[in-house]
Amino acid sequence: MTQIKIFDTTLRDGEQSPGVNLNQLEKLEIAKQLERLGVDVMEAGFPASSQGDFDAVKKIADTVKNSTVAALARANKHDIDRAYDAIKNANKKRIHVFIATSPIHMQDKLKKTPEEVTKTAVEMVSYAKSKCEDVEFSAEDASRSDLEFMATVIEKVIEAGATVVNLPDTVGYTTPKEYGEMFRYMKENVKNIDQVDLSTHCHDDLGMAMANSVAGVQNGATQVEGTINGIGERAGNVALEELAVAFEIRKDFYPYYTEMTLNEIKRTSDIISQLTGMAVPGNKAVVGRNAFSHESGIHQDGVLKNAQTYEIITPEMVGVQSNNLVLGKHSGRHAFQDKIAQLGFDLSEEKLSEAFLAFKQLTDRKKEVTDDDLFVILTDIQTDI
Ligand code: KIV
Ligand code: ZN
Repeated sequence: MTQIKIFDTTLRDGEQSPGVNLNQLEKLEIAKQLERLGVDVMEAGFPASSQGDFDAVKKIADTVKNSTVAALARANKHDIDRAYDAIKNANKKRIHVFIATSPIHMQDKLKKTPEEVTKTAVEMVSYAKSKCEDVEFSAEDASRSDLEFMATVIEKVIEAGATVVNLPDTVGYTTPKEYGEMFRYMKENVKNIDQVDLSTHCHDDLGMAMANSVAGVQNGATQVEGTINGIGERAGNVALEELAVAFEIRKDFYPYYTEMTLNEIKRTSDIISQLTGMAVPGNKAVVGRNAFSHESGIHQDGVLKNAQTYEIITPEMVGVQSNNLVLGKHSGRHAFQDKIAQLGFDLSEEKLSEAFLAFKQLTDRKKEVTDDDLFVILTDIQTDI
């Protein structure tokens, strides 16, 4: 089994979600929870972007002990100085330097030739290395870059001291096959590639972030970058809780594991949702409200007999108290009987049939029947002699 390191960027790429703006205390609260969750690295922010972000990153670096604290920097000395100054007191620290390597970004955004980009990348990784032992280099828009060119850049930044090389699918454009092949290409063509951790960083514009991240891992990546709840720029980043749970549930298939404390997932998701104001969709995998809810009578009956009939993840594994049988028009007698026992009622067969009929009639008028609704039905029936 190979360990896949979890690099959480909820506090940096996640905070780039439109409308999200976390203050220093909020960022610190999330950082502490990410540490409890057991992420290997947390990217605390982008210190050169504002004084507020610098202060927040510094506070996190001063507080967090178990996870590496990373700070983002563009490939220039000012950003690298700000990043280092913010994280210098951290127990474990990393400077994360990035520059784009795709033709469209080099020509139209950076206005630099490929040779200039290579020179800047090498000089700035080397500068970061003079300050900090652990330096990550990201080739922004890697998935739209020329493979041969990128291989040269990567070989040179490794020589300059990079410890991690990240190949982002910045715009969520790639496919699992292409993304996997890119990692394989680097593994086969870059000198000393085995000295560094190769990393995925996938955005979800085409809903492929999870599949692409897994493809990267299957082709040699040993670090995955993403966020909790999949928040992030535009359509977001890969949801790290999904990846960690998938590796755990399908360990018969995937020879990988993470050090994430899975039963801290739900609490982390709730805190991040609350503080960012970004609601988690009900049907979201692993942490959505409906992930452990069952509506159909056939499913409810199955789950009551053996939860594994319709649940591949136990709620407890991810820190959810219990599954939830939602009583609605698709519910059957078995789930109904189970619920009324939970509410403390013990009815004769005849009264039970009467109550079930009243409940079914109510479901024609109400999508979800609550415990209060049932209480009214059941007390009426119990006292009706
Ligand atoms: O998506 C991206 O390319 C990034 C880099 C800054 C790593 O977030
Ligand atoms: Zn990103």
